[in-house]
Amino acid sequence: MKDGKFLTMAFESSCDETSVAIVADGRDVLSNVISSQIDIFKNYGGVVPEIAARHHLENINQVVDEALKQADVTLDDVDLIGVTYGPGLVGALLIGVATAKAIAFARDIPIIGVHHIMGHVSANFIQDKQLEPPFTALIVSGGHTNIAEIQSYTNYKVLGGTRDDAVGEAYDKVARVLGLGYPGGPKIDRIAKEGNPDAIHFKRVLLEKDSYDFSFSGLKTAVLNYLNSEKQAGREINRADVAASFQQAVIDVIVEKTISAVKEMGYGKLVLAGGVAANSKLRGTLEEECKKNKIEIHVPAPVLCTDNAAMIACAAYYKYMAGERGDIDMDAYANLPLEG
Ligand SMILES: Nc1ncnc2c1ncn2[C@@H]1O[C@H](COP(=O)(O)OP(=O)(O)OP(=O)(O)O)[C@@H](O)[C@H]1O
Ligand SMILES: [Mg+2]
Repeated sequence: MKDGKFLTMAFESSCDETSVAIVADGRDVLSNVISSQIDIFKNYGGVVPEIAARHHLENINQVVDEALKQADVTLDDVDLIGVTYGPGLVGALLIGVATAKAIAFARDIPIIGVHHIMGHVSANFIQDKQLEPPFTALIVSGGHTNIAEIQSYTNYKVLGGTRDDAVGEAYDKVARVLGLGYPGGPKIDRIAKEGNPDAIHFKRVLLEKDSYDFSFSGLKTAVLNYLNSEKQAGREINRADVAASFQQAVIDVIVEKTISAVKEMGYGKLVLAGGVAANSKLRGTLEEECKKNKIEIHVPAPVLCTDNAAMIACAAYYKYMAGERGDIDMDAYANLPLEG
């Protein structure tokens, strides 16, 4: 406690960001230090798990010190430790989990394991201090594409998910074949602004009627086939048009399914989560559609969309307040179901 506030210290290391945050009373961010390895993985065209784990290990102590310093607190002030324990790269996750457990054990502080995607959704509670469940959430990230019913701070029901590639993965793969580099999402976002979204028609994969599932691998292949056939025909490729047309095909499907899920749930509230929620066209289109349909929409600031520990602290706080108690023997899990 500091100044009468309950302090949560949280750790996030599921992929290529080493992050430690201090959050007061669940929603007030005192520090959110993020050490990204993006510059390292640019050279590889994607994340290399072993290298990511090694960098987490090298960085974590400095990130801890910096988070405490920026928040102007010490470990004596920390009431709760939260940590992402899955899903993610297991070697990477283990660095955050081991550090969190060591501090919790040494200082006798309670520890709570957080599902990474619950963290992404919780970023919205930091962004909008008045937001409360229930609501419908669209989770779009590097590893996930889900529409979920958020029934309470700790209970989620998944309505649909991707059957193959996650949307962020599709962005990253298409960016790679277009020669745009890693991570592809922000690059496609930028270049698509100069392109024509109707230049090339890529099929919209809606799957069965009333299904909230997604499939993006066919679209990725369609882009690849288009590029190959244009190359073979000796035609010059307009990368901005390809990026804009690919993005439009993704957004059309996501928007249609999301709006219909919000209507079916009946809460009148949509919350976006995950790295791809930083996409300007997706945000803009969903904001417009929500306005038309009188749906309240919540979108985190870009820094809260991608991996960060503040969102994990927020999720840990609400789990703790709901009576959950973690275990110092906690493990890290590459796969972890979202529902609970
Ligand atoms: N502006 C953007 N437009 C589209 N995609 C974006 C944008 N910014 C980031 N992304 C994508 O978001 C993904 C990263 O998001 P995030 O950090 O949430 O994913 P992750 O942590 O790797 O996966 P998960 O959260 O599912 O474990 C990458 O695929 C990246 O390309
Ligand atoms: Mg993530």
